[in-house]
Amino acid sequence: MKKPYKHMPVITFDDIMLRTITQKDYKDMFDYGKNHEVVRYLSWGPFSIPKEAKKSIQHIFYPRLKKGLPIGYAIVDLKTSKMIGTIDFHSKIKDEQGAEIGFVLHHDYWNKGIMTQALKEMIKVGFDYLGYDYIRIRHLGQNIASQKVISKAPFKLKSIEPFRIEKAARVIEDDMYTYEMTKEDYHGSQQSERHL
Ligand SMILES: CC(C)(COP(=O)(O)OP(=O)(O)OC[C@H]1O[C@@H](n2cnc3c(N)ncnc32)[C@H](O)[C@@H]1OP(=O)(O)O)[C@@H](O)C(=O)NCCC(=O)NCCS
Repeated sequence: MKKPYKHMPVITFDDIMLRTITQKDYKDMFDYGKNHEVVRYLSWGPFSIPKEAKKSIQHIFYPRLKKGLPIGYAIVDLKTSKMIGTIDFHSKIKDEQGAEIGFVLHHDYWNKGIMTQALKEMIKVGFDYLGYDYIRIRHLGQNIASQKVISKAPFKLKSIEPFRIEKAARVIEDDMYTYEMTKEDYHGSQQSERHL
């Protein structure tokens, strides 16, 4: 298929669905994006009004298509049909053959294993469907939950570099951990899973 990033497959696991973000999701996005704890280590937020979430879908997620990236997945709770987070390829890396993953989840859904599974599905989509050669992911040193989720996938730590986020209310200075997975790492890990 030409330009597969324009037609991303819908994925389901447990009571969760991953499907492309739509403009209608903005109220749900506001719901988790207004929480200071949720956005603590992110470059955006907290949102003060729903319109900010609407703008983020219009100006951050939708324009990805023009950059050759999928819009991004909404993580949906199938029991309530509410969007409870996102997981997305937000930037291209290495001459367009790979991309970096970002993720965020509503606070009420933390620690249920949802992002660990969503990341697994995203890696599969990246290599098997989008045909990437590399996937990158990063977290700040203080972001232990993110580190734990990443550590459960076969990523390799590539660098630890000082990083600074300036947000309206405060500045975070921390180390940024950068990881990468190649398609060879991915296929190797799948073979070892099959042998278990
Ligand atoms: C990071 C995030 C997506 C994790 O999602 P999640 O669905 O709760 O993750 P999981 O349940 O799959 O796994 C979380 C792991 O972190 C651990 N964890 C969570 N908070 C922790 C903490 N403060 N200290 C130590 N471990 C912690 C959990 O115990 C779990 O590990 P375990 O399965 O070995 O017990 C979620 O916390 C979030 O949305 N954070 C805010 C946004 C963000 O920081 N995004 C990442 C940017 S790099």
